[in-house]
Order: sequence, then C-alpha cells, then structure tokens
Amino acid sequence: MPILEVKQLTKIYEGRVAHKALDNMQFAVGRGEFVGIMGPSGSGKTTLLNVIATIDEPTSGEIRINGRNPHALGKRETALFRRRELGFVFQHFNLLDSLTVEENIVLPLSLDGASVEEMERKVRQTADKLGIAGILGKRTYEISGGQMQRTAIARALIHKPSLILADEPTGNLDSKASTEVMEQLRALHTEEAATILMVTHDAVAASYCGRVIFIKDGKIYNEIYRGESRQAFFQRIIDMLSLLGGRPA
Ligand SMILES: Nc1ncnc2c1ncn2[C@@H]1O[C@H](COP(=O)(O)OP(=O)(O)OP(=O)(O)O)[C@@H](O)[C@H]1O
Ligand SMILES: [Mg+2]
Repeated sequence: MPILEVKQLTKIYEGRVAHKALDNMQFAVGRGEFVGIMGPSGSGKTTLLNVIATIDEPTSGEIRINGRNPHALGKRETALFRRRELGFVFQHFNLLDSLTVEENIVLPLSLDGASVEEMERKVRQTADKLGIAGILGKRTYEISGGQMQRTAIARALIHKPSLILADEPTGNLDSKASTEVMEQLRALHTEEAATILMVTHDAVAASYCGRVIFIKDGKIYNEIYRGESRQAFFQRIIDMLSLLGGRPA
C-alpha cells in the first residue's frame, strides 16, 4: 500500500471568479520514496501540499495517508493525525526564537506527552544524524540559515512521521547551505527510508529526488525518474521546466 494516495483531487476556490487550483489530480507515493513537485507559479503546488497536510479541504476527490482519509476525521482526531503521521519543513523554518535548538526539535514529542528520557534520547540521535549535536544549547538567532533548516528538519523527523512534507526547504538558503540541506534530506531518505514529498522551484534541489512530478494548471503534466546520475537528472529537469513554460517564480 502506498503511504500517500491522491485520488481525483479537485480544489476550487470560490470567489467572485471561481478558480480551479487542482483539477482531478491523481498520483501515489510509495513507502521510502523521495518525490519532488515542480511547476510554474500558480500551478497549484502549495494548494496540493496544504490539502495533503489537512490545512485545506478538497472540493472533491480524496487523499489517503497510510490508507486513511484524514479529511474524514473529526477536529481532534485530525490534529492528532497530523502530529503523528506528518512532519513539516517550511521555507521560513518556523522555529521559535525564544527556544533553544534542542527545545525546538523536541516540540512534537512534548506535545505528545513523551517522557524526558525518551525525548533526550531521540534528540541526541536525531541531532547526530543531522550534524547539529554541537549547537543544541544555542538559540535560533545564534545559528546560520543552514543550521536553522537542519533544526527544522530534525523537528519534522523526531517523531518518525509516515510522510515528510517540505515546501521550498531551500528557498531561503544560499547555494552552500542548500546543498548541505539536500544532502541531509537525501541521507535520511536512503538511510532511514523516510518518505518525503518536496515542493521546490530549484532544479538542483529537485535533482536529489528519486522522481519529480511536474504540474501545470492544477494537473499533472509529466513525471520523470532519476535513474542515472544526479547531473544527468538535473539536465532532464531543466529541459522539462523549459517545456512546461510559465514563470518559474
Ligand atoms: N485562498 C485562495 N483563494 C483563492 N485563490 C487562491 C487561494 N490560494 C491560491 N489561490 C489560487 O490558486 C492557484 C494555485 O495557487 P498555489 O498557491 O497553489 O500555487 P503555487 O503553485 O504554489 O505557486 P507559487 O509557485 O507561486 O508558490 C493560483 O492561481 C492562486 O491564485
Ligand atoms: Mg506556492
């Protein structure tokens, strides 16, 4: 069974002029896959991620995560489901300034009422994996952008979610920090078999994925698989983006 199934998903924003942001979209993501989503500005990428994250409701169709439809759950259950099954990594990191790196990472566990011993053990493990064990006591304004994003990734991972959703995780980073973050995501994917769905405008970041789905006008336009070297995949991504047209945003 796939971790994520998107079935005939349509999202219409009602307004003075109704807008179909997602148009009968259908795909699946298997356990341990690292999938990129690319497409021009306004093609529906964030809408798709928000519907999968249960931040937004579909107009028709459905999504399933581990076989369950989170939109069919009540409010309390949805909140629990989101916390247990999903990990989020955003462009703006969403870290809390008043907390240390360690306190930020541990947040999902403390919400779930884990014991102090368990939290400490998991923080060490996760921080080691992401190379941030040395900065656990620092506050977020004392660390670099790349370290912030790795902290955000550690927080998204610490409860071993079924699915990690990332919206432009390298959007605010310079190229060196982007490379570090992508190497870490790639390592998590290969070593931990983490399942990752990542929206990105960056062809270099996308070339770390095993598959890239291209969307246009709320529909799937095409998808390509990595297979060979990252360099060759990068070139095929660039070619597909120019076919796709539109403003790359
Ligand atoms: N809350 C909303 N109400 C009405 N229309 C919306 C709303 N959110 C998004 N849209 C429209 O839906 C379409 C898809 O928007 P979305 O934010 O998903 O695009 P995107 O692919 O993430 O673009 P970008 O690359 O610029 O982030 C756009 O035409 C947008 O104007
Ligand atoms: Mg967007």
